[in-house]
Amino acid sequence: MPDLQKLLPPPMRRPPKPGHPNGAGNGDAPAALKNGDEPESPVTDNPGKRLTTGVKDAPADLVGWVDERMGATSFLTAMLMRKIPKGTNWFYTLGSATLFAFVVQAITGVFLAMYYTPSPVEAYASITHLTNDVFLGEFVRGMHKWGASVMVILIFVHMARTFFFGAYKYPREINWVIGVVLLILTMTMGFTGYLLPFDQRSYWATIVGVNINGTGPLVGPYLSDFLRAGPEFGATTLQRFYAIHMLLVPGAIIAMIGAHLYLVVKMGTTAPPWLRADRKPKESRSHEVDAIANGDGANGSSGNGAAS
Ligand code: HEM
Repeated sequence: MPDLQKLLPPPMRRPPKPGHPNGAGNGDAPAALKNGDEPESPVTDNPGKRLTTGVKDAPADLVGWVDERMGATSFLTAMLMRKIPKGTNWFYTLGSATLFAFVVQAITGVFLAMYYTPSPVEAYASITHLTNDVFLGEFVRGMHKWGASVMVILIFVHMARTFFFGAYKYPREINWVIGVVLLILTMTMGFTGYLLPFDQRSYWATIVGVNINGTGPLVGPYLSDFLRAGPEFGATTLQRFYAIHMLLVPGAIIAMIGAHLYLVVKMGTTAPPWLRADRKPKESRSHEVDAIANGDGANGSSGNGAAS
């Protein structure tokens, strides 16, 4: 396991004030240069160090420069260096695996969109052209098609993990509900994507799907009208499915994943149930809630103490 501490940028230094002999900012050359001396290293206060030594440190300083303007270190530190409960195991990687599957879908989807035409006459032809003629087209299409199934499987296994580890319980109910929304959105991606090749199978399967939606209570009929986008199943339906598939739902998924991960970082992850079982009563919930309120999520949520 690499030492994550080493990956962090060095501590930040305040930039020299304008007019300081070592600094820029007032448009004046450093005093040393005016006298014709060698310049001091821009990244060190050590007057003995030459510029050539400083150049070696430049990438680290670039990170510092960006960080000073964006404050990314605190975010990355919170994400990467957060404490995790004792007993954390491979099952805890399923959420990240689902995230990875989503990113792959987003990237391959962008390339497919470059060749796809959402019209009943051209949709099938554009996909056949992509598959047969475009360099790596079949491969990218295959990744997107099989990746959709992989994402659905991973999301269910991740959901099962959080269920069986009791991670849906207080105080993480909202994250569970956000997860359910993510599950519905992911299924919507599968449903709307299925129509896009516009071949016989996708056409008839989608008609069945839209009709099933129509049988739902209260909103059912409105939902199927919305999806059909007109009295007949045709051009407007395909355009609507395409817009939902490539703009509406991915945008919602990105927003929901942001909220989901925010809560994971804020609350920390739940310790495995077999470690929580022997937790003494006084260590339990109230202590956990206090810790989350203090912004020290994982410390409290692990129950048995957090390993870093
Ligand atoms: C696009 C879909 C999803 C992504 C990218 C995602 C991502 C993640 C990640 C990275 C974590 C932290 C690591 C882990 O525990 O695996 C997590 C935790 C969690 N997820 Fe998801 N998730 C998704 C869907 C879901 C679904 C469908 C549910 C349940 C209905 C769910 C419920 C939870 C809960 C309750 C936690 C907290 C786990 C704990 O405290 O131990 N997530 N998710």
